[in-house]
Amino acid sequence: MSEPFARFTLGVSATLTWGEPQPSPELATLVSNARSHAWSPAELDWSRAVDPREPAAANAVLARVLEYPVQDDAALVGQVLFHTNLHLLSQTLHGEQGALLGAAALVAALPDLEAKTFAATQVNDEARHVEALGRYLSEVCGARYAPAPGLKTLFGQVFPSSRWELLLLAVQLMIEPLALAGFKWLRVSNSRDPLFADLLQRIYRDEARHVAFGLRLLKPVYADLDEATRREHQQFAIEVARQLSAAFAFDEVRKNLSLGPEWATWAACSRGATTLKRLLFSKIVGTLQKVGLYSATVQAAFEQLGVLGPFAQLVELDPEPASGIDVLPDALRSQREEVLAQALEQARERRAQKGQR
Ligand SMILES: [Fe+2]
Ligand SMILES: [Fe+2]
Repeated sequence: MSEPFARFTLGVSATLTWGEPQPSPELATLVSNARSHAWSPAELDWSRAVDPREPAAANAVLARVLEYPVQDDAALVGQVLFHTNLHLLSQTLHGEQGALLGAAALVAALPDLEAKTFAATQVNDEARHVEALGRYLSEVCGARYAPAPGLKTLFGQVFPSSRWELLLLAVQLMIEPLALAGFKWLRVSNSRDPLFADLLQRIYRDEARHVAFGLRLLKPVYADLDEATRREHQQFAIEVARQLSAAFAFDEVRKNLSLGPEWATWAACSRGATTLKRLLFSKIVGTLQKVGLYSATVQAAFEQLGVLGPFAQLVELDPEPASGIDVLPDALRSQREEVLAQALEQARERRAQKGQR
């Protein structure tokens, strides 16, 4: 059995409902989609994985996009890129476990049976995400980072909350949209791996459904809220954002690779690192706007965190993964197919060589 990294007290109360269910076509569709789109990690073709440590032709382009303090040291660029993505993916895995716990708490706490039913499908989804991402980290990456301090603090703030609305706000409208945006970046930067693309596409579709569920439940709540409670929820959202921002400072990567002080400066205030963080937050702004929580105070707090910028516009939540990687810089987009084809060819050759031995 794996060691627990932290214990939390759940603050919500469990509810049972005896009344006649109040059918909601929107929730019924979400439940039906969850059932018909269910998948298993075993369905993925794990033999197609491309080693993410291998030097990629795209690395130099990504290093320029992120404005790494070194550009010419290809080996170091490859290492930093691999570890930055490994860190992001590891935090996503730990976040998935948080979402699993959050969904289970929602099953208990939500007052409406149909909403409980959807949350139950989400429990199944999140357990699948934990299993699939964990397997990818173990089998393909061969390593993982521990939960960042900001993530632990975040869980410590979210789970003891006694109101399901706050749990829903943090998990469905902030943590999950951040993961959705993170997947876009991961697909860009690890675009050579068809297994990874397949995995993220499946998780992305599930997560988009979870976000839609959060919006469906919270929109009416926030449309009818007194001003003092609204301010309390906004303050909570600011705190969640603060911890999420801290969780993706990549400090652990710098320490792990014994990188020099120029990397601390890069992580703290470079245009490249800021751009990545803005991308991660881009969907959070959209969901908060959609439920009417994105006030001038929230905006000012986000500005202070440095998470608003070119990527922070309202992003439509598409139930399907974006056809593209709409964040991809032109220079990289034109190379993507070529790089992917090269990687597949190399993987085929390696498998053929292994087969001959
Ligand atoms: Fe998930
Ligand atoms: Fe989710």
